[in-house]
Parts: sequence; structure tokens; C-alpha cells
Amino acid sequence: MLEVIHLTKLYKTKGGADVRALDDVSLRFPEKGMVFLLGRSGSGKSTLLNVCGGLDSPTSGEIVVKGRSSKDFTQSDFDSYRNTFVGFVFQEYNILDEFSVEDNIALALELQGKPKDKKTIEKLLADVDLSGYAKRKPNTLSGGQKQRIAIARALVATFLPVYHTAKKKPVESIRAL
Ligand SMILES: Nc1ncnc2c1ncn2[C@@H]1O[C@H](COP(=O)(O)OP(=O)(O)O)[C@@H](O)[C@H]1O
Ligand SMILES: [Mg+2]
Repeated sequence: MLEVIHLTKLYKTKGGADVRALDDVSLRFPEKGMVFLLGRSGSGKSTLLNVCGGLDSPTSGEIVVKGRSSKDFTQSDFDSYRNTFVGFVFQEYNILDEFSVEDNIALALELQGKPKDKKTIEKLLADVDLSGYAKRKPNTLSGGQKQRIAIARALVATFLPVYHTAKKKPVESIRAL
């Protein structure tokens, strides 16, 4: 599903030598499961994730998504890859402090063109064990709870809408991944 081939990333620094953050990295991620990326500080973990997530481009090499090379991606392919294929959970949470928990998640749903109804938000919160926290503001949450809000928001990318019948009853809730 996702493969990186011969990735190299050089950062140019002012006055100093170039930094080779990635040096010919090739790997294939499994279709399902978890992958842990370990390495000392400064070894290139964030750089690799940024390139894999389409947030940064490599100096050379390519990422291959479902058999398609990033070399053939247009700018809008990258936009839709970032919006609908990848879910980001940042170290710094990047949740909006002025918004309630439910509004933070509703915003992610809205940006991805998905229905932001109460049921969908409740389901996402239940998935990260935060049922009942919808009305809370982020500044009343612990660090781990904020991180889980960020995870719920990232899950939006893999979350298909709850479908409604003519009677408007939810009949199906599907996870894509
Ligand atoms: N924007 C940048 N400009 C110059 N060097 C950078 C930049 N970002 C990261 N680096 C350097 O690239 C190397 C890898 O950084 P990074 O991927 O953030 O490491 P990690 O996430 O494993 O701690 C480090 O030496 C870091 O100083
Ligand atoms: Mg890092």
C-alpha cells in the first residue's frame, strides 16, 4: 500500500554544511498493523514521516502509494493524499484551544467533506475512550487526553460516514482501515 524507494533528503543550512537527514532509505510498509520507528534524536524520524505524509518532498527518491509513484503526483494529488489517505497526530497536538473537543473533531470532518453529525463525533470519541468529553475545552484535559483528541481527529481520514436509510437510522458504520 505504501512504499518508499531510495529516499534521500538534504537540508541546506545557512553557512553550514548540508545535513543529510535521509540517506537512501527504502522500505515497504505492511498493509495492516503497527510500525514503530525508533532512532536517536536527530536521526531523521520526523523527516521520514514528513516525506511519507506528503508534508515535505524528498531531495531524491519516491514514495509509492497503492502502486502510484509520487513522481507522477500533481499538487492536487498531494492535497487529496494528505487529506484523505493519511491521518496526522502531531507531537504538539495541534488542536485548537478555543474550540471544544467536539468542535475540533467537527472541523476535521468538515475539512474532509464528511458529515459532522453528533453520532459520528460520538463514535470517534468512543474509539479513543473519551465518550462524554465532547463539550470540554482542551485546556481542561490532560496531555494524554489531548493526544487522544488528536488521534480521534486523525482517525477522521480513515473513517467512512455513518450511512442513513430513508428513515434516517444509522445502519452501517465502516472503518476503512
Ligand atoms: N529544516 C531543517 N533545516 C536543516 N536541518 C534540519 C531541518 N530539519 C531537520 N534538520 C536536521 O535533520 C536531521 C534529522 O532531523 P529530524 O528528522 O527532525 O530527526 P528526528 O525526528 O529523528 O529527531 C537533524 O540533524 C536535524 O538537525
Ligand atoms: Mg522528531
